[in-house]
Amino acid sequence: MLPFHRVAADDFAAVNQRIIDQLHSDVPLVENIGHYLVEAGGKRLRPLLVLLCTRAAGYCGRDHIDLAAIIEFIHTATLLHDDVVDTSDMRRGRITANARWGNAPAVLVGDFLYSRAFQMMVALRDMDIMSILSETTNTIAEGEVQQLVNAGDPAVSEDNYFRVIHKKTGALFEAACETAAVLAGCTDGQRNALKLYGRHLGLAFQLVDDALDYRGNAEELGKNVGDDLAEGKPTLPLIYTMANGSGTQAALVREAIEQRSADRLTEIVTAIEECGALEYTMERARAAVDNARDQLALLPDSDQKTALQQLASFAVERTV
Ligand code: IPE
Ligand code: IPE
Ligand code: MG
Ligand code: MG
Ligand code: MG
Repeated sequence: MLPFHRVAADDFAAVNQRIIDQLHSDVPLVENIGHYLVEAGGKRLRPLLVLLCTRAAGYCGRDHIDLAAIIEFIHTATLLHDDVVDTSDMRRGRITANARWGNAPAVLVGDFLYSRAFQMMVALRDMDIMSILSETTNTIAEGEVQQLVNAGDPAVSEDNYFRVIHKKTGALFEAACETAAVLAGCTDGQRNALKLYGRHLGLAFQLVDDALDYRGNAEELGKNVGDDLAEGKPTLPLIYTMANGSGTQAALVREAIEQRSADRLTEIVTAIEECGALEYTMERARAAVDNARDQLALLPDSDQKTALQQLASFAVERTV
């Protein structure tokens, strides 16, 4: 448990219980894969955002527990699909579902979790929340497809990269905070501020994820590093190196992207470190987090608001 989880500890326990309850299915394979991934933990940042944002906005009801579980189900579904698409074999310190059971079960259980999230969402009977979450899941899918199209292409621009990370990751952070604001009955101003807080936090989170793919520790992260290069993904560290590195460094990166090969990972890590690409990526992440933190000014002071500020700092400082 991270320090900023503590302020929501009771609610958090209720969310974890709700997640387990809602994994039920008549088909044992669904439950096996669902429990396998859920019991491995994960940081649970997105449900925590729901808990903190609702309470920070003065919400006193109980529906935030379900909303938090819904958001985590959507996230878990994207992870199941993501590991198939990225051919990854490690997640949350365990062998991925696709590596253990195969692609078909992983994709189908991902679909199960998505649709379970929608069943739970309909039960909340809030049209604004349904509208935000249906838009969001569509946006995530679109971002993943755009990223697929970009793979192997060294000419992808920084703008294009930012659009992709907003869609595939920023959108769900944004939705977690905005739906929390809707549930709490926030003013339009507060709702927009929380939405922007989530968006910029999510961008920072993915920027750091993309930096950690080159300089992180697989054991600590619980997932492999270097996967992005093997998939030929033009993420910001590589885009920056191609634009600002020496001719040799740029050519090295360009070729690796085109060939979708991590064979020269060590040399590439040296190149992106030498030309300041990781520092630049972290700089952009820090700017996004500053922007996220500024949005919180519209909320009254509370322990939850402090936790939201700490969570923002964690997004850039994290090594997990
Ligand atoms: C992983 O998200 C997917 C990305 C958006 C980078 P998390 O790092 O939040 O995954 P868990 O839930 O903690 O495992
Ligand atoms: C995660 O991006 C985005 C979604 C899950 C939609 P990554 O592919 O970089 O996430 P990790 O690194 O596998 O967790
Ligand atoms: Mg992945
Ligand atoms: Mg991916
Ligand atoms: Mg990643």
